[in-house]
Amino acid sequence: MHEDLERLLLSAEDIDAIVTRLARQIDADYAAADKRLVLVCILKGSLMLTSDLMKHLAVPAEVEFMQVSSYRDGTHTSGRVDLVLELDRADLAACDVVIVEDIIDSGRTLAYLIDYLRVRGAKSIKTCTLFDKPDRREVAVRADYVGRVISDDFIVGYGMDYDERYRSLPYVGVLKPSVYEK
Ligand code: IMP
Ligand code: MG
Repeated sequence: MHEDLERLLLSAEDIDAIVTRLARQIDADYAAADKRLVLVCILKGSLMLTSDLMKHLAVPAEVEFMQVSSYRDGTHTSGRVDLVLELDRADLAACDVVIVEDIIDSGRTLAYLIDYLRVRGAKSIKTCTLFDKPDRREVAVRADYVGRVISDDFIVGYGMDYDERYRSLPYVGVLKPSVYEK
């Protein structure tokens, strides 16, 4: 385990079991012939989750990317969400979108994304997140597919960062507060 971590939250095996379960849930909901599943990977945090999810899905899945920035001051959001990378698909009218997020914290990012995709005309929109911190919610949003509900710890690894570090760890751990309280 990385020396900047206080404790391990999910091992690579734990993550695999969760992603397998999420994929089975999505499979069940998108098996119908009239569904056209498009995963929208929210960069950069959900790159590993999106790629693992795609591998575990039995239903055909297309993939698109978006990037938003929420201007965090240390580990807390400023409340402002800015679009960094637009969705590269003109017509969403036939698309059943599943937004793939790493973690829902205040909920502002997810609320922004749902709104954006609705305005862009997606046929349906659901949301999948690996982690959910419901105690920190500032706007009322909930994900349809949730990997693990956690308390108010700042976590890194498996795509998630602090100041762009730790994304490449294949597991998820709680960051030592001494790393960001400097
Ligand atoms: P929200 O808009 O406050 O819900 O924040 C969502 C985004 O903040 C996530 O997509 C993450 O990129 C980031 N974030 C929130 N909590 C954590 C955390 O514990 N570790 C790493 N990133 C986090
Ligand atoms: Mg992030």
